[in-house]
Amino acid sequence: MGIFKKKKKLETNSMEQGVRLITVSAPSSVNTEQFNTIRTNIEFSNADEQIKSLVMTSATASEGKSTVAANLAVAFARQGKRVLLVDTDLRRPTINATFSISNPIGLTNFLTEHSVSVNDIFYKTSVDNLYVLPSGPTPPNPSELIGSKRMSNLITALQDAFDLVIYDAPPVLSVTDAQILSTKVDGTIVVVRENRAEKEAVRQAVKLIKHVDGKIIGSILNDADGDSVGYYGYYGYYGK
Ligand SMILES: Nc1ncnc2c1ncn2[C@@H]1O[C@H](COP(=O)(O)OP(=O)(O)OP(=O)(O)O)[C@@H](O)[C@H]1O
Ligand SMILES: [Mg+2]
Repeated sequence: MGIFKKKKKLETNSMEQGVRLITVSAPSSVNTEQFNTIRTNIEFSNADEQIKSLVMTSATASEGKSTVAANLAVAFARQGKRVLLVDTDLRRPTINATFSISNPIGLTNFLTEHSVSVNDIFYKTSVDNLYVLPSGPTPPNPSELIGSKRMSNLITALQDAFDLVIYDAPPVLSVTDAQILSTKVDGTIVVVRENRAEKEAVRQAVKLIKHVDGKIIGSILNDADGDSVGYYGYYGYYGK
């Protein structure tokens, strides 16, 4: 697995400044329209049952998981759905910065302190119908917390309380968290960043999720024109 790890420095700007909410800053842009299209594709990805919980992951770091998760959450909320975006990337959280929640208590507090209730850890945002659940302080044992019984119970409870819950997860090839989460939700989406993701790494990530019986409902190609000058590239959604 280590062969896929690049020895480059991890980007930290989305942790410090949050991700760019193009769906909020430019609601009638082409990019926002692309997120709406992805939303529609997700809605129709399962004819039998409505998708109520999603994990957003990727093979490696910085492929755009948090950006895509947050913008998709906005796209679904705009449609009138009650949406919750959960930061399950306990090592590299972004949601508190993206939604300007200063020093919040969050998921790790809930998972480690029994006095903290679900109602204490989610926050309303400036987008109607959109709520967020930030990560809380980074714990020494993130994977253990994500795999805990309390986390499973929380996922079940949230599924009943919201129309859609999106989990922003760490990369599959770094830690087991996304694999664990993928087994507890309706669908997993793999974000692939053009010109950055390596084919073999993506293949390996898909294999790992399938290995635990996680259900991959599609992948999103981020930054498809690879144009780092113009800020956002094309987002495409590819079913199975
Ligand atoms: N389409 C895009 N065009 C330009 N920049 C992008 C695009 N998508 C993401 N970025 C930038 O790339 C960086 C990484 O994005 P993001 O934080 O969403 O990725 P991530 O997969 O969640 O990373 P991590 O593995 O750290 O959780 C951020 O600085 C973000 O603004
Ligand atoms: Mg992220």
